[in-house]
Amino acid sequence: MAINADSLAQLRGILVKSKRFVFLTGAGISQESGIPTFRGNGGLWKTHDPAKLATLSSFHENPSLVWGYYSYRQKLISKCQPNPAHLAISKIKEQKKGDSWVLIQNVDNLHRLAGSKNIIELHGNIFKLSCIRCGYSGYMDMDMVLPPKCTNCESVLEPCVVMFEEALPQKEWATSIELSFSCDLVFIAGTSLNVSPVNTLPSYAKDNNAVLAEVNPEETWLSRFMDFSIKGSSADVLPNIYNLMK
Ligand code: APR
Ligand code: ZN
Repeated sequence: MAINADSLAQLRGILVKSKRFVFLTGAGISQESGIPTFRGNGGLWKTHDPAKLATLSSFHENPSLVWGYYSYRQKLISKCQPNPAHLAISKIKEQKKGDSWVLIQNVDNLHRLAGSKNIIELHGNIFKLSCIRCGYSGYMDMDMVLPPKCTNCESVLEPCVVMFEEALPQKEWATSIELSFSCDLVFIAGTSLNVSPVNTLPSYAKDNNAVLAEVNPEETWLSRFMDFSIKGSSADVLPNIYNLMK
């Protein structure tokens, strides 16, 4: 973990004093649970074309292909467990009590399984599905025939995952903006910050003079704007940050 002791002590002080802090996490935080990222080494988008598998238009053109992709990911993710990074976030939030939130880009449910409360799934949840025609929503049975049909109206059901070309869930997005504008500290862990509009949240926090702390083994385009840019894996760094608080 590349952060000197002074910076770590400074970050600890900020965390202890924080009145409202936010975690903003991405695919990298689940990498050590065995779920590949999208853009890092071995990322999904290096071998799969998101334009064919993860856009609203590809879903309407070929629901079976897109459902095949999401079903493959569900089966992989259902075998994965929260790693020390997810658990550390849950314990930091528990320890601090106060007002803290986790803004999640991943759809893998692992923050919830790690016990984190106050979570906002900005890109949805891969185990849920819904009917855009009649509003039915439910949980995915991984053995169902693909593409699954709505039992109410026979339409093809959609995975409750925000695809490219799709808007984020409005309530969750509005709450995330409000939290970013009103927090005093943001931990940004495991995201390349490549995808909008989620990658605008750190700038809203900065507008409110929040401290930005990034945890990532690699540089991101926002690393130089961070108050703390900690080079390392989230499963290594976040438990260390929790240990500072005890
Ligand atoms: N710990 C922390 N960060 C890590 C780790 C790790 N162990 N391993 C990789 N990373 C970092 C990578 O360096 C990279 O910056 O995680 C980041 C993953 O970036 P992406 O693969 O782009 O994932 P993410 O930022 O979550 O993508 C956002 O894009 O395709 C869409 O919907 C998808 O939610 C996703 C969104
Ligand atoms: Zn329906």
